[in-house]
Amino acid sequence: MHTDKDNMRVLFVIAVLFIPQLPCYGELHFAIYSDEFKNILPEDPTFELLAKSDEPYEFHEGPAYFPDDNDGFLLYTTQPAKKYKDPKSDPQNSIKKYDIRSGELSTFRESSVAHMPNGQVRDTKNRLLTCEQGYKNLSPGRITRTNLSTGKVEVLVDSHYGLHLNSPNDIVVKSDGTIWFTDPSYGFMQDFRSKPELGDFVYRLDPDAKGPNLTVVADGFNKPNGLAFSPDEHYLYITESGAIQLPGSWHPNLPHHIYRYHVVNGRHLRNKELFAVVGNQVHEGDNPGIPDGIKFDQCGYVYVGAGDGVQVFNTNGDLIGKILTPTFVSNIAFGGKRGNYLYLLANSVLYRVRLRASGAEFSRNTEIQQCGNASSTLYFNPTN
Ligand SMILES: *[C@@H]1O[C@H](CO)[C@@H](O)[C@H](O)[C@H]1NC(C)=O
Ligand SMILES: *[C@@H]1O[C@H](CO)[C@@H](O)[C@H](O)[C@H]1NC(C)=O
Ligand SMILES: *[C@@H]1O[C@H](CO)[C@@H](O)[C@H](O)[C@H]1NC(C)=O
Repeated sequence: MHTDKDNMRVLFVIAVLFIPQLPCYGELHFAIYSDEFKNILPEDPTFELLAKSDEPYEFHEGPAYFPDDNDGFLLYTTQPAKKYKDPKSDPQNSIKKYDIRSGELSTFRESSVAHMPNGQVRDTKNRLLTCEQGYKNLSPGRITRTNLSTGKVEVLVDSHYGLHLNSPNDIVVKSDGTIWFTDPSYGFMQDFRSKPELGDFVYRLDPDAKGPNLTVVADGFNKPNGLAFSPDEHYLYITESGAIQLPGSWHPNLPHHIYRYHVVNGRHLRNKELFAVVGNQVHEGDNPGIPDGIKFDQCGYVYVGAGDGVQVFNTNGDLIGKILTPTFVSNIAFGGKRGNYLYLLANSVLYRVRLRASGAEFSRNTEIQQCGNASSTLYFNPTN
């Protein structure tokens, strides 16, 4: 357990998760709580440690898989601990690239111009969307879009009716091209953003709208964090991580929850329901466990980055299994030609797990594959 003040700051990261770090990065393993979990596992599941760094938070957030002529690559964001050792300095997040075939790591966008990046996603036209959390004063949080062939970066939005965004955290694209993102006030709490001008909202951005393009779709959160559409886009799931607030402090009475909303007319959210409260395998102090990044596979199973690895739920909200890791997982991405590799950003390590199931985004607009006798196939006949 870190005790001195500087290290306490290190503990407080945007993708706020902490469990005791085990001394080695030994094998991952699966915890299987239901036969249903076997629907998504191949007969010979494999774990691979792809890359490891001496820097904590090197593999932090925003994993976005891009196909190419080869095996494709991942773009992701880092959060070096430097700022937290020297509170006066600005944080130094950058965007990095992992080439899957060669295993080569490179810098995609230096921290000096990356504007404190966090969550990312590939859009429907193969561009990179980035949540940039910004800095103090005139550098608000914003959403940018990068054309990978030219490197050109466009700012899509940085304010709502003239009020600056807080520090956008995670982002997802709907099949109609609209962009949905969370905007918690972690930047202010971490002392690199100015006082919030807006609530901890969830937004829909329509980049093609003629008039106002940014709408608040959900409110009432204490730190909205990851978000994901169900494969049929009838639901939006949002994680809430208020249980971590100030540096190193845990608030078990605040949310570490996953909520689900109905998507109405493709544009609005209604009927908030509690989907699950996320816990930890291992307890350290008051840390109740925190959900962070969230993704769907094509069968409708829900994968959540959490304090003890990746937790997998069926759509009833039953925890059916876990991919346990020695440290927290802040976010995950499906990738590979068939989309059946799961990439895990686990603090200073990048892992890969081969699954039977593919990521939902790999099967959009195509026939949904039969997923065994999974109860989650019921999902595709929603009763609402
Ligand atoms: C699928 O069906 C078989 C046969 O009824 C049953 O043994 C098995 O437990 C089921 N698996 C799941 C995941 O429901
Ligand atoms: C990216 O830029 C290239 C070169 O200007 C252009 O041909 C392409 O259409 C752009 N991509 C998108 C999705 O706009
Ligand atoms: C959204 O609207 C804002 C305010 O009018 C504008 O500055 C911004 O360029 C718009 N973004 C897009 C992607 O159209």
